[in-house]
Parts: sequence; C-alpha cells; structure tokens
Amino acid sequence: MNTRAAHGQPLRGAALIARFEAVTALLVATRQWWRPAPFQHPRLPWEATAPELANYLRALDRDAVEGLHSDLPALADQLSPWLPAAASVALGTVPQLPAQSLPPMPEPRDVPGRKWAQIQAFLSRCQTTTLPALEWCSGKAHLGRHYAALAGAPVTALEWDDALVAAAQQLAQREQRPVAAHCQDVLAPTAGRWLQPAQQVLALHACGELHRRLLRLCAERRPQALLLSPCCYHLGSGEDYEPLSQQGQRSALQLSREELRIALQETVTAPGREQRQRETLQAWRLGFDLLQRELRGIESYLRTPPLAAPATIAKGFAALCQQLARHHGLTVPAALDLAPWEQAGWRRLAEVRALDLVRALFRPLLELWVVLDYACLLQEHGYEVELGRFCQRSLTPRNLLLRAVLPAAGTTAQNVVENTY
Ligand SMILES: C[S@@+](CC[C@H](N)C(=O)[O-])C[C@H]1O[C@@H](n2cnc3c(N)ncnc32)[C@H](O)[C@@H]1O
Repeated sequence: MNTRAAHGQPLRGAALIARFEAVTALLVATRQWWRPAPFQHPRLPWEATAPELANYLRALDRDAVEGLHSDLPALADQLSPWLPAAASVALGTVPQLPAQSLPPMPEPRDVPGRKWAQIQAFLSRCQTTTLPALEWCSGKAHLGRHYAALAGAPVTALEWDDALVAAAQQLAQREQRPVAAHCQDVLAPTAGRWLQPAQQVLALHACGELHRRLLRLCAERRPQALLLSPCCYHLGSGEDYEPLSQQGQRSALQLSREELRIALQETVTAPGREQRQRETLQAWRLGFDLLQRELRGIESYLRTPPLAAPATIAKGFAALCQQLARHHGLTVPAALDLAPWEQAGWRRLAEVRALDLVRALFRPLLELWVVLDYACLLQEHGYEVELGRFCQRSLTPRNLLLRAVLPAAGTTAQNVVENTY
C-alpha cells in the first residue's frame, strides 16, 4: 500500500490500483467477520471461534454501543485484540481533495442550507470551470445553477421527475442562469446522446445504477471531465454486484446487493422522532423473526417487505405480525399473546446493534472498494482520476468524490501515471 497516498494525498494513478488490491485482500481475508448479518443470525458463525468478542459486545450498554458506532478510531481500538482493526482503518482512510476558493455567493433562499454547503464543497473541487456542463440526476439543478453562475458556461440538467424539471427551469429563469433542464430517464437508451466530448459532467448523489450508467457512458463517449459523488450503491444492482472495471472483474472479492448496503448502514443523524420510529420497526421486525422461527420450527431468517414507519407503527405489533405472517403464508394463532415477542424483539435489537459493531469497522472499506472499482474503470478508459473526500462526514456521510479528466492532447493517461509515480 502507498502510505503517502493513505495519509495525505488524494488517490490517483498507480496508487488507486494499489489501494484497490490492498482493500480487496483485506476484505477477502476478513470476510468471516463482515459477511454474516447479525439481524439474520441469533448466533453468528464467528462466535464459535471468538466467544470472548461476542461476550464483550453483548455486555456493552446502549450508550457505549452507540458511541462506538459513531467513533471509528475508538471502535478500532476496542476490536483490535480480535481483528485487523488498525489496517482496516488505515486502508479506509481517504484524504480530502484540495479545494479551490470560490467567489463568495449569498446563500440562495431556495436551496436547503445543508445542500448549499455540499454544493459549494463539491464545486470547489472542480479543476475547470470553463466547460459547458451536464448535470446528471439534477433534481432542481441547484448544483447546475451554481456552476453556471461560476463558469458563465451553459448547463444541461437531466432529471426524470417532471415537477423537479419544471422547478429547475423556473429557478434558472428567475436567476437568469443558462441552465436547460430536460425530462430524461437516464437509464433509457436515449440518455447517452447528452454526453459530449467538450463537456464536464457533474453528478452529486446520483444513486446506484444511475451513477453506474453514467460511468459506463463516460467510458464510451468520453466527455472531457467528470465530477461524481456516488451514493446508494445497492439501488438498481442485480442480486450480485457486477464490477465495472477489468480490475474489479479479476478481483477475488464478490459482493451481493445486500453487502453493498452495508456501506450505507451507519448511524445517521435523523430527528429524534424518526429515529425512534426506525428503531421501533427494527425491533418489531426482529420480534417477528423470532416468532416465525417458532411457528415454522425452522431456524432461518425470512426476508420481509419494506414497511412505511408511521402507518405500520400506528397499527401496532400484532397487526405487523399478522401482515408479515400472511406475506409468508403463515398463521399466527389468534389466542397467542404477542407481547413477549415484542419485548424479545427489543432485546434482540440491542444485541444486533452491539454485534453490528464488527461490520461497522469494515463499512468504509466496502464503500471504498466499490468506488475504487469505478475509478479503475475510468482509468482503464484513459482518464486521469483522483479520489478524495469533498467535505466532512457531518455534512454528508456520502462524501467520496471521483474527479476524472482526459489528459491534454500529446500525453496519455499511461505516461501521466508513470511520470507521477
Ligand atoms: C438523491 S437525488 C440527488 C439530486 C441532486 N443531484 C442533489 O444532489 O440534490 C437523485 C435524483 O435522481 C432522480 N432520478 C431517479 N431516477 C432517475 C432516472 N431514472 N433518471 C433521471 N433521474 C432520476 C431523482 O428524481 C432525484 O432527483
């Protein structure tokens, strides 16, 4: 591993590939720790070999568990007697991309404060602001309007939701920005026509398959520059993640869609009421899981459909059990007292949160592996690529940024890589 890249410099060139290989090796070597999901296994397979770790985690109180979930270095310290925790933290560390200072702009009244801060942090990583831009999955094109203001260059914004497209047009007209918003499903075969060679593509938090489509199109149509912050890696993926790059396709690691979700399952700072609702649903699902094992006499997890929190909670735990039992063709005996199953669900939730600390250690690595696969694809198609962070986690936990540019005529990505390292 290139330690210089790990501790200060954004990842680029040969360091990207070296990091991809190192992350792959560590994830393969540690898969017995992060693969099994605690919510599916009342006894995790690794507990047989590390009972002291399971005991230690089960004995933690709620505050200690939540504290460790939000403090990766402290978690690594605690888990290091059992796991290669320090290596995992070091390999998951990606520094910030250096920022250019932007001319001061008053906060626009139509852009939520947090989104505005993300947009400024994102655009301060643009290396060029002279190219026309294409904004991918633009929402109301807040990012595109700000780019147009900075660059004085036209922006094309693609979004499939009519109402957001209309709002984008209205805001652009009101602020007199050269932004043309178009209603376009970016997964449709027609989407590729929007990518042009003399163009910078901007994509802030385009989800899963939406950003993977963009990456494939960039490889094919080669716009001059790309700035992408990906999110929701599992969305639109098949059962198994299919790496985009040749490097990824040769890799010894394979991830399922469920494993792509691990990268996102961190503590998010939701308002108290939402947090409580989410926990209630989790506890109830776990209570139902214990119940269905008893009803079927089979010790295995059953997948359950998505549930809307407020509506489901309003109907109560018994209604949830009936609904999920029907979904699986099971019958809950009418005389069965479900209160003990609900209480057992809450106890299971505390246990699952504690045991999930093991997976939490590997979350940054799983995310990084996927984004490095994206970086390798761009590099394989001649782009000079840098990977870094564009803001603090507190602003958004999805803060990885891929910056790719085609080298100037006369140089090739290959000799740029060789000259740099
Ligand atoms: C997470 S939001 C990000 C929006 C914006 N980039 C931002 O940072 O505020 C993802 C956007 O993708 C849009 N979207 C989802 N599926 C799409 C598709 N197939 N084609 C185009 N846009 C899509 C959604 O409507 C939404 O506006």
